Amino acid sequence: MPLNSPWRADFPGILALDNQGQTYLDSAATAQKPQAMLDSLLGYYASGAANVHRAQHLPGERATRAFEASRTKVAQWLNAASSEEIVFTHGTSEALNLLAYGLEHRFAAGDEIAISALEHHANLLPWQQLALRRGLKLVVLPLDRDGRIDLAQAATLIGPRTRLLAVSQLSNVLGCWQPVRELIALAQAQGALTVVDGAQGVVHGRHDVQALGCDFYACSSHKLYGPDGVGLLYGHREALAQLRHWQFGGEMVLEADYRHARFRPAPLGFEAGTPAISSVIALGASLTYLAGLDGAAVAGHEAALHAKLLAGLNAREGVRLLGAPQVALASFVVDGVHSADLAHLLSEQGIAVRAGHHCAMPLLKSLGLPGTIRVSLGLYNDGEDLERLFSALDKSLELLR
Ligand SMILES: Cc1ncc(COP(=O)(O)O)c(C=O)c1O
Repeated sequence: MPLNSPWRADFPGILALDNQGQTYLDSAATAQKPQAMLDSLLGYYASGAANVHRAQHLPGERATRAFEASRTKVAQWLNAASSEEIVFTHGTSEALNLLAYGLEHRFAAGDEIAISALEHHANLLPWQQLALRRGLKLVVLPLDRDGRIDLAQAATLIGPRTRLLAVSQLSNVLGCWQPVRELIALAQAQGALTVVDGAQGVVHGRHDVQALGCDFYACSSHKLYGPDGVGLLYGHREALAQLRHWQFGGEMVLEADYRHARFRPAPLGFEAGTPAISSVIALGASLTYLAGLDGAAVAGHEAALHAKLLAGLNAREGVRLLGAPQVALASFVVDGVHSADLAHLLSEQGIAVRAGHHCAMPLLKSLGLPGTIRVSLGLYNDGEDLERLFSALDKSLELLR
């Protein structure tokens, strides 16, 4: 089956990489961008840049309208109840740091934060550092053999001392969906707040934060075919109201003198200073582009490509897949071969994959691995990309053995 992507031509970056002889298989790190997003980015500057939320003039009003329209699109994309529940940040990492500072006052020594054994550093280190600051206990929920958070064990570890649960929706190393809804129910039964790291999950399919029932959901634009430098934090209205302000400056304040200040509520109260205006607007254009695609066709293409990837890797002697990947990516090691050496040889043949610990060092350490090779797919990838990967992999392994 050729597995052509009908959307490939919409992505000038992937076409440019084709011309450079590069096969891009690292979309979980950052995705290529559709022309519609590039047009929006350029259009904002080319039609006259202006700051948002502060100018009375026409260009300022126009920029503010476009900026807020993007907030509405994000809210619709995630099915948030209101655009006021969307705070723009610089990315998932900043959104999670915002939470770890904004919620700090709610914790007392001895309280527990539950994370899982597969978290990206972005959803580990802010909580680890908060635990160190406040004398909290970080509880790590173990995984089952497939790389999913073990629900039976989670049920025994999430208890009355758990004040917060923070877990990934989709592992960036193992590519498997996590039982987030069930974990949220366990945590909420104990009165804990719930945070979902949606950095990888948000890219595949549509996700409904109200159906998920989480208090907070964080993700990045650059993985979702949008520009870098912007991400977002969804917070349920009542959960956002519990946050203390954490960054201070322009536009987040209602009133100030030399002795005190009163701050705006969310979202603007958590967007101190000039935001990434062009990127926020262009993220809206990416979402409009994605919303215009046939979702079932995208999911079908991604599933067929992923099945081909797994079959091709499994067919190769010595290649060992990690966990039971379900979507968009696969991590593997080759017995007796260092993943950095293999990635280097693949790169020399124009194959762009990621090698290393994937910002999840504790997971890799628990697997006893210094690193893996991760192949990840975007909606523009096609069967030929995978054929090129497989033939480069065969050549590399022949050389290395
Ligand atoms: C699961 C997960 N969480 C968080 C992040 C951090 O995202 P960002 O670097 O955009 O802040 C990533 C990035 O790779 C990720 O894969």
